[in-house]
Amino acid sequence: MNNELTARKPASSRPDYRDRLIDGKKIAAEIKEEVRQEVSALKDRGQEVTLAVVLVGNDSASQVYVRNKEKACDFTGIRPLTYKLNEDTKEEDLIHLIQELNEREDVNGILVQLPLPRQIHEDKVLNLIRPDKDVDGFLPVSVGNLSIGRPGFQSCTPQGMIELLKRSGISIDGKHAVIVGRSNIVGKPMAMLLLRENATVTVCHSHTKNLRELTRQADILVAAIGKPKFFHKEDVKEGAVVLDVGMNRDENGKLCGDCDTEDLLPVVSRITPVPGGVGPMTIAMLMRNCLYSLRLKQDLAD
Ligand code: GUN
Repeated sequence: MNNELTARKPASSRPDYRDRLIDGKKIAAEIKEEVRQEVSALKDRGQEVTLAVVLVGNDSASQVYVRNKEKACDFTGIRPLTYKLNEDTKEEDLIHLIQELNEREDVNGILVQLPLPRQIHEDKVLNLIRPDKDVDGFLPVSVGNLSIGRPGFQSCTPQGMIELLKRSGISIDGKHAVIVGRSNIVGKPMAMLLLRENATVTVCHSHTKNLRELTRQADILVAAIGKPKFFHKEDVKEGAVVLDVGMNRDENGKLCGDCDTEDLLPVVSRITPVPGGVGPMTIAMLMRNCLYSLRLKQDLAD
């Protein structure tokens, strides 16, 4: 046997495939910089952009998300108006706050951080948000507009994934996209956005038979299943592009996605890491949606 072939290459010359990782942090930073410049130009013309963020209760993950949204506002120059309400807030008090924010001329976007405490009916509260301030893109009217290809707010995470593909030079047209997960804020809107970009779309969920047979057919795989390191190299096609929406903890308590990234890297053409892939894009797109709300207001005024 040829020893040269069987000998392991020194670590330094072995490929580590790092160039296959899609740097979501860098792309999100570019988008936030674009928003910052637009907000600054608006300020020069005497216009301010304001995002109201409502946090109810003590959920620790929500507190981190809200802090990150405030930080992004600080960077972009969008004025954050944060309301922190007690865990035992009554539904009617939250409703009054939303109504007040709806009416305020100086508030462009309203975001109610989820989940809400048990005593508050989530749909009832969210559906009160004025459609032209729905920066999360969660309202039925926003979802409906997206479904029929009309302009409107789009859910931030799927919108961020499309942006990741486009800014990485990955074409979507004619590709087979397989989405695993059918949530209202990721899987379903992602299917609509990919259709809009002329992909052929398969949506899989917990009742799907032969899941792995389907994921192996994907040119673009969207993993939004919520199970740590669920997908391995056998589950993807050679050269596939993988977008990992998972945000889980592995057996050592370390943050990980729905994919075993290290296992997939030698097989895929591109993959988003966790953390630093899809996650940072959500807030960047929220910032962009705040600008969009201003545009909507101007269109309505014209
Ligand atoms: N909770 C977790 N993610 C989100 C989000 O994108 N928007 C809101 N409103 N709540 C969340």
